[in-house]
Amino acid sequence: MRGQNIALIAVVIALIIVAVVFMLWKKEGSSPMPESLVTTFHDDPRVSRAFTWYTDTTKSASVVQLVPAVGKVNFGGPNVITITGASSVIDEGKGVKRGVHKVNVTGLTPGTAYTYRVGSGEPEEWSEPAQFTTEGEEEAAFSFINVTDSQGTTEADFKLWGATLARAFALFPQAQFIVHNGDFTEEPTDETAWEQLFTQSRSWVTSIPLMPVTGNHDEVDGNAERFVSHFHVPNNGAGGSIPGTSYSFNYGSAHIVVLNTESNLKGQIEWLRNDLALTDKPWKIVAMHRGAYGGSMYKKLDKWVEIFDEQEVDLVLQGHNHEYSRSYPLRDGRITGDGNSPVRNHAGTMYVVTNTAGTKFNEKKEDLFYHKVHLQNEKQMFAGITIDGDTLTYEAYDVDGQKVDAFVIEH
Ligand SMILES: [Fe+2]
Repeated sequence: MRGQNIALIAVVIALIIVAVVFMLWKKEGSSPMPESLVTTFHDDPRVSRAFTWYTDTTKSASVVQLVPAVGKVNFGGPNVITITGASSVIDEGKGVKRGVHKVNVTGLTPGTAYTYRVGSGEPEEWSEPAQFTTEGEEEAAFSFINVTDSQGTTEADFKLWGATLARAFALFPQAQFIVHNGDFTEEPTDETAWEQLFTQSRSWVTSIPLMPVTGNHDEVDGNAERFVSHFHVPNNGAGGSIPGTSYSFNYGSAHIVVLNTESNLKGQIEWLRNDLALTDKPWKIVAMHRGAYGGSMYKKLDKWVEIFDEQEVDLVLQGHNHEYSRSYPLRDGRITGDGNSPVRNHAGTMYVVTNTAGTKFNEKKEDLFYHKVHLQNEKQMFAGITIDGDTLTYEAYDVDGQKVDAFVIEH
């Protein structure tokens, strides 16, 4: 009997030791496998491409391998390019630390398809291969996708975001990048939500750059650490802004400026003016989370709107309201067109909110003077924006593929 008791105690102790070791292992994180992989533009899209991913371990290197080919490629062959980038550690609280990996690949050839993988550089520690294509030397026509407020918590929430992108790329298979207008997750420190965001969009965002805008659910009380850790965006933003929350980039004939409505509003004024004044691109597009007209931020954003008017910005992409809205063309606070015929000769700037790519729909707000189209259809939505020479065509769809709105701007 005594011997049995001793044996039982020994088994219990062994189980406790196994449980403690497992918990410590979980906490420290040991997997070197890439998670939450996403591609962005960091430099010139014709010759470079950036990648960001997380690992459970904080100890692995950040390596990208590319081959200028598609199909079955050989990463051990002579034409493989190997680039090592930066690794850092993010503290998720409660003793959990994870590795953050950012690599910007430069020296690529314009208009070329590449197959790549990311990992630690060790065998068996690579992502699945994925493909991307650099911007062509002269892209006279191209499309991109605009979505906003995926803002989820659960897997089911982010399946809606995945379905929205699936429809967007079914209708715009050649779209070259995605602009997401902010509020990626409900709670920015909820890493499970970020994992779901990237898992449900993996088929697209490992190939097509996802260019992020900072929302009020991405930067909270001046902290955007988790949000900026997930994207390797251009490093050309406003002084005083959290790096990674304001920046601009070019694609084809478009110059796209991303502003941060959550902090340093005044500090972005001169940067915005200079950034827009210096571009030689004919199409000027701004992306920001909170709306310029109406809403609680309206007065604070007046100076930005003055610059949109002065620099003849064509289109302002917005989020935050979780409803669909599209303005008349506006200049100096006045309506400058009927909203049906094309906007010509820089007559006004168009302001849009493409509802939400997530689960939360707001009741439609009060109609204001600037609204040309204003509705709540309780459907996830996106816009496909096509620039072809002197014509910009904006088309908003719901997740079922129903066209909700469209307009044209001509230069
Ligand atoms: Fe939101």
